[in-house]
Amino acid sequence: MVKIGIIGAMELEVATLKQELTQVTCREVAGMKFFDGMLEQTSVVVVQCGVGKVNAAMCVQILHDLFEVTHVINTGVAGGLNDKLDIGDILISNAALQHDMNVEPLGYAPGQVPGLDTLSFPADDKMKQGAIASCERVNQDIQVMEGLVVSGDQFIAEQAVRKHLIDTFHGDCAEMEGAAIAQAAYLNNLPFVIIRAISDKADHSAQMDYPTFEKQAAYHCAKLVAEFVKTY
Ligand code: ADE
Repeated sequence: MVKIGIIGAMELEVATLKQELTQVTCREVAGMKFFDGMLEQTSVVVVQCGVGKVNAAMCVQILHDLFEVTHVINTGVAGGLNDKLDIGDILISNAALQHDMNVEPLGYAPGQVPGLDTLSFPADDKMKQGAIASCERVNQDIQVMEGLVVSGDQFIAEQAVRKHLIDTFHGDCAEMEGAAIAQAAYLNNLPFVIIRAISDKADHSAQMDYPTFEKQAAYHCAKLVAEFVKTY
């Protein structure tokens, strides 16, 4: 049976989804509230994991071990790195990597986690295609792009850092949880996809743009996730 774990870092990224749940029970583990219920005919667990990679990875492990989810979706906002992405556009992951993982002095490529046989963690192809199709069905005015999510415990708001993420990793968007969710899903053989709405351009204007566009982008993204989940 399909059971989908839906993770957002912040309350406003999961609030809309929580409102749509029926037959809900709530359980708190490690300070995170897991809302187990139904989105129409689909069994889901919606959870706010908190900001950053540690919270995100812990959350996936709990979803796997205690709630026995079969799939994982990460929803939320991100800073755009690809110049083709505008604020409000949607990025669907084809893969994710951690831009702040760096063991270069020991001969590893930037982003490479020693001991793992992959640099980036690939999203599930079927989930990716389904997410793209749902986005296109729901809102034809908004651009949907697939690409590489780069994650780190860092809010990106400087042109030089933005350029580094583009030049080194060819990242399409930057955020703070996706790759940790991807790695935890990979290690547990869970199919995953990251669906993010662009709230800023991860440059000098990010500090202003993020608070301005965060709410609308997060709401829009959650609506798309709900539509996608209902197709299961
Ligand atoms: N989430 C949204 N915008 C971001 C940025 N500029 N850096 C990191 N995470 C983000």
